[in-house]
Amino acid sequence: MKTLTGSIETVKLGGFIGEKDFWDKGYGTDYVKTVVKYSFKVLGLHRVWLRVFSFNKRAIK
Ligand SMILES: CC(C)(COP(=O)(O)OP(=O)(O)OC[C@H]1O[C@@H](n2cnc3c(N)ncnc32)[C@H](O)[C@@H]1OP(=O)(O)O)[C@@H](O)C(=O)NCCC(=O)NCCS
Repeated sequence: MKTLTGSIETVKLGGFIGEKDFWDKGYGTDYVKTVVKYSFKVLGLHRVWLRVFSFNKRAIK
């Protein structure tokens, strides 16, 4: 992760688990929760957002 400087208040989140054997085990949920919590509580950001395809139910949840 890069060090943030200046007045950055919004970040775009992205994620990808390359190995299918590791899908649907809660890792994606854990990753998002951890990054969102860190972004608001430690970095003091105001908005964290993620773009997903409408057909990607797993990513939307
Ligand atoms: C999207 C991705 C990061 C999600 O991570 P993950 O570890 O597989 O997801 P989780 O195990 O945390 O599951 C997330 C939710 O989706 C649900 N889910 C899993 N498979 C599903 C399916 N086929 N259809 C609908 N929901 C599904 C899970 O039950 C869970 O919901 P819950 O918390 O209510 O039980 C991961 O699957 C991935 O990298 N996929 C390929 C690339 C990709 O799609 N990237 C995202 C681009 S926006």
